Amino acid sequence: MRILLPLIFAVFITGCEDANELGSTPTQPYSDFFSALPNEPIYPANNPYSEDKEALGELLFFDPILSGEQDVACATCHHPDLGWADARPFSIGAGGVGLGPDRDDQNRGNITPIHSPTIMNVAFTGLGLETDMIGDDFVSGGYFWDLRADTLEQQAVGPIVNPIEMRGDALPEIEDDKEYLKAIVERLKDIPEYVDLFDAAFITLDPVTFAPIDSVTTDNLAKALATFQRRVITSDTRFDDFIRGDTNALTNNEITGLNKFINGGCARCHSGPMLSDNLIHETQPILIGLTAVRTPSLRNITKTAPYMHNGSSPSLRHAIAVYEDREDLQVNLEDEDFADIELFLRTLDTDNFYREIPESIPSSLTIAGEIH
Ligand code: HEC
Ligand code: HEC
Repeated sequence: MRILLPLIFAVFITGCEDANELGSTPTQPYSDFFSALPNEPIYPANNPYSEDKEALGELLFFDPILSGEQDVACATCHHPDLGWADARPFSIGAGGVGLGPDRDDQNRGNITPIHSPTIMNVAFTGLGLETDMIGDDFVSGGYFWDLRADTLEQQAVGPIVNPIEMRGDALPEIEDDKEYLKAIVERLKDIPEYVDLFDAAFITLDPVTFAPIDSVTTDNLAKALATFQRRVITSDTRFDDFIRGDTNALTNNEITGLNKFINGGCARCHSGPMLSDNLIHETQPILIGLTAVRTPSLRNITKTAPYMHNGSSPSLRHAIAVYEDREDLQVNLEDEDFADIELFLRTLDTDNFYREIPESIPSSLTIAGEIH
């Protein structure tokens, strides 16, 4: 299917007399391009869901104890009030103070070279059109802008050991990443509430020998964080209702935008339940030594400005207008199509998604880090 698509579009676009026709009819049934997002997260076989694991993961996600200087949490850069991202082109990590656009690096210079993506819907990253492919068989399409982490469990330790994001200048005597992670795990072991929570979430006896095993480990830390993140999903949208067959879920203008999105070439890359093929493409000049970046999901898109790997698009309209005159990408749209496409993209939004903040965390440090 992926190989055929460019051909189909080439035929359609050359057969198109003017841009207005773009909106009239879709070239294919919508199910050839999109599917509804599942209503429940997908959990891998080696890290199945449990309520205890999810609850532990949530506390860890908001707890700056995971950072070297105990001032940055995952939530500092993936905050529920900011669409589980940080509303900045680039993130400020260790030593910074404040949240979102107000965050200041305090002259520490710990600024990430790339934009923080949202963690919304990471349970589905890389899911293809076959949404019945749910359960143990699902393997993610890869995480990070360059796909360098295969699973959420693998991803979770990245920011913890990253000097800019969370590690900072504490524990400089530990150079080895694994040793450093052990030191962070030791901190957790010193807090009885965390030990109890890990014991509840993970096995504490060897299944063969029945010898006691330690549940507070780097692996289990990553598993808990991944399990919590998988809960943040945004499947309750009008677009999903429409794809599931409720033809009244979208207005005529929104359907016009959807047809332009398909016929104009956007769905070549923004397809499937996530509106992303999760593949690497070069759509504009890329910073930081990469030549191409992964297609981002367009779900709940209005919650996550600014856009692009370098945050270079401050608004959704700007992010769409980047595609003007891009025959090189086989994208064929006129100025006047942008408003319709924006109207359609807004149907991917919902306010009905998990975005609570814990009232307390076991370390008693500042919840979500130094964000005030
Ligand atoms: C200082 C800000 C910062 C902190 C703290 C931070 N992140 Fe991130 N996060 C980022 C940035 C920037 C990226 C993109 C990095 C890249 O692609 O190279 C990212 C990427 C991710 C992704 C990949 C999303 C995707 O779609 O590929 C996940 C998941 C994630 N972070 C979870 C976490 C977790 C869990 C923690 C805590 C252990 C954390 N982050 C801490 C800034 C941060
Ligand atoms: C060749 C594949 C491809 C095509 C075709 C394509 N996109 Fe993209 N899209 C991408 C990639 C890759 C990025 C990330 C680029 C970056 O970060 O610099 C992106 C980013 C975006 C973003 C920003 C998302 C975010 O969260 O940062 C929006 C919005 C978007 N595209 C909409 C569209 C629209 C509308 C069209 C059709 C006019 C389109 N795309 C066509 C691959 C594509």
